[in-house]
Amino acid sequence: MIVLVADKFEQSGIVGMNALGCEVAYEPDLADQALAEAVAAKGVDVLVVRSTKVTDAMMAPSLKLIVRAGAGVNTIDVKAATTKRVLVANCPGKNSIAVAELALGLMLALDRRIPENVADLRAGRWNKKEYSKARGLYGRTLGLLGVGSVGAEVITRAAAFGMPVVMWDVRLSGQDRRVTHEEAAFFGIERACAMGPVALAPAAADVAARCDILSIHLAFVPETRHFVNAGVLSRLKPGSVVINTSRGEVVDADALRTVIRERQIRAGLDVFAHEPASATGEFTDPIVKEPGVYGTHHIGASTDQAQDAIAAETVRIVQVFRDTGKAPNVVNG
Ligand code: MLT
Repeated sequence: MIVLVADKFEQSGIVGMNALGCEVAYEPDLADQALAEAVAAKGVDVLVVRSTKVTDAMMAPSLKLIVRAGAGVNTIDVKAATTKRVLVANCPGKNSIAVAELALGLMLALDRRIPENVADLRAGRWNKKEYSKARGLYGRTLGLLGVGSVGAEVITRAAAFGMPVVMWDVRLSGQDRRVTHEEAAFFGIERACAMGPVALAPAAADVAARCDILSIHLAFVPETRHFVNAGVLSRLKPGSVVINTSRGEVVDADALRTVIRERQIRAGLDVFAHEPASATGEFTDPIVKEPGVYGTHHIGASTDQAQDAIAAETVRIVQVFRDTGKAPNVVNG
């Protein structure tokens, strides 16, 4: 079986797929036309990608399976894959802790203004007077939009910080009450519910109105484009914080810039609608230049632990596919 890995990928995954007897080509910089040509020329059976975009043109007749080495599949033309009977599988939950850790890190960084602290010290300026101003996270309400595996890990960590939680998820939309034991078990947030209050809000705008920090954990699908729009963002209390570690497209960036400017909202953003598909490159987005916005380079999933887990899951997917012709975690089967 010929596997092409067209993205940065853990060595353990390459070793694992070689051990399965696969012929593995590791070409992390392949993209666009060159990738389409490589898939066709090599007769690739399985394509493994992380951020690299996969279009219809890359789905040569030999291709049977695309593995997204991560959770979101928005960079893959799943519709075209379905038409061409190419399976698309992902690795859900394997990097959730890493993403949750970054979300909490951005909350702490914004509260204590850690980047400005560092920059001033590097410039030889001591300013304990200015940087002693912080509200603290304890007792501040965390609002969650989307409670999948990342959202659940964020809730658990926030509860450990003593933060009450108010959440909205499409599976329980319209509900306005405390989360029940059954729901806590369903979402994997039992520990958080035992530590402090976790409430459901009927709609995303209600979460925004009730929280101090809004953390977004929605998958990007056509229905969630600009889901976090002016109607949601205008309900935030002045001085609130928005964290987005999901996908840039789920937030209306213009509306976010407006509330940042007009209502002293601050934001921690790891994802952007027009971020490069490659690991390095040019990047311009005016929002990262706004005072009170900390941008990071879509690194939520990028810890050694998470990438090892993703590599192991990719090997498992390829193994099951080799043995049975079926793949786990298929999103279009
Ligand atoms: C995900 O979809 O799991 C992450 O965005 C993955 C990544 O950064 O590779």
